[in-house]
Amino acid sequence: MTGIRQRHVALSRSVYAALDAAATSEIAARVGYQCCSRYARTQRLVSAVVRWVPGGRRALRRLLIASSRLPFRTRGVRIIGCGTAVTVFLLTGATGEGRLVLKVCRDTLGRRLDVLLADVGRRRATHRRVAGWYDEFTPLLPTSFVIAHCPLRSLPAVACVQHYAGDPRRDLFEEMDERDLVNLASTVPRLGRQLVSFAACTAKAVEREGLCVDLLGRDNLVVVGGLTDARLVLVDHGLHDLRGAGAKPAIVEKTASRLAYLRSVADQVERRAAGAPGKAASVGHAS
Ligand SMILES: Nc1ncnc2c1ncn2[C@@H]1O[C@H](COP(=O)(O)OP(=O)(O)O)[C@@H](O)[C@H]1O
Ligand SMILES: [Mg+2]
Repeated sequence: MTGIRQRHVALSRSVYAALDAAATSEIAARVGYQCCSRYARTQRLVSAVVRWVPGGRRALRRLLIASSRLPFRTRGVRIIGCGTAVTVFLLTGATGEGRLVLKVCRDTLGRRLDVLLADVGRRRATHRRVAGWYDEFTPLLPTSFVIAHCPLRSLPAVACVQHYAGDPRRDLFEEMDERDLVNLASTVPRLGRQLVSFAACTAKAVEREGLCVDLLGRDNLVVVGGLTDARLVLVDHGLHDLRGAGAKPAIVEKTASRLAYLRSVADQVERRAAGAPGKAASVGHAS
């Protein structure tokens, strides 16, 4: 790639990221900003400005978001989430079973078709690999990857389609007490089996491949539903490399701590299922 072309790509990526940050500023103001990146700073700035402009939010939405070129029959779209890598749209009034979300991979916005094709292939392969670590109790949502004109200014991008994870949902690490989690998983057999299987399969993958699903991001691993229908869902299929040259010690350590916590919860659930009284909470986890 020539220097001019490289600069052009870098500039358009910054512009698209800024547009995306403007579009997600409303939800970030509601659920909290992810980090102190340039993306989050743009979200804060847009929120601060738009607050003082009557009808500003609606105008911004109309300017930035459109569903007309989406390859789905849908009445409209609404932003329901934004993580560090994706912006998540709920397809409203879509036909078919259940509600669907479109998760647009931010770093692919507006890229050339050959780049998108290579990227979508890599993401599919990674997802297939991760899905292969788990069994019939997998908390992964079925996921299809597409190249599409996404809702942000109808820019082409790589995205994935998933079912809406459901409500109510609680972050397993941040919003559930260990005792409540063990009690719920002992009351709802499916949740218990999912937890035991997830802890074992994830630990095995870490041991074998040095890779781990992202247990650190907010709302990545959630318990959906309540006393009768609780289930474990991993909405985010991102990975952390724990052994490669680029592995970050803080991530390795915190992931290990969360995995240890999961295994401790799984042990307690298994002991309860076998009729033995659960041992008091023993492994804390870094939050
Ligand atoms: N299938 C889904 N159903 C409902 N909400 C979702 C779904 N996928 C993602 N979200 C919401 O969007 C947020 C960001 O998605 P996530 O896949 O974690 O992206 P990232 O890799 O950028 O962290 C999640 O924390 C969650 O709140
Ligand atoms: Mg996430």
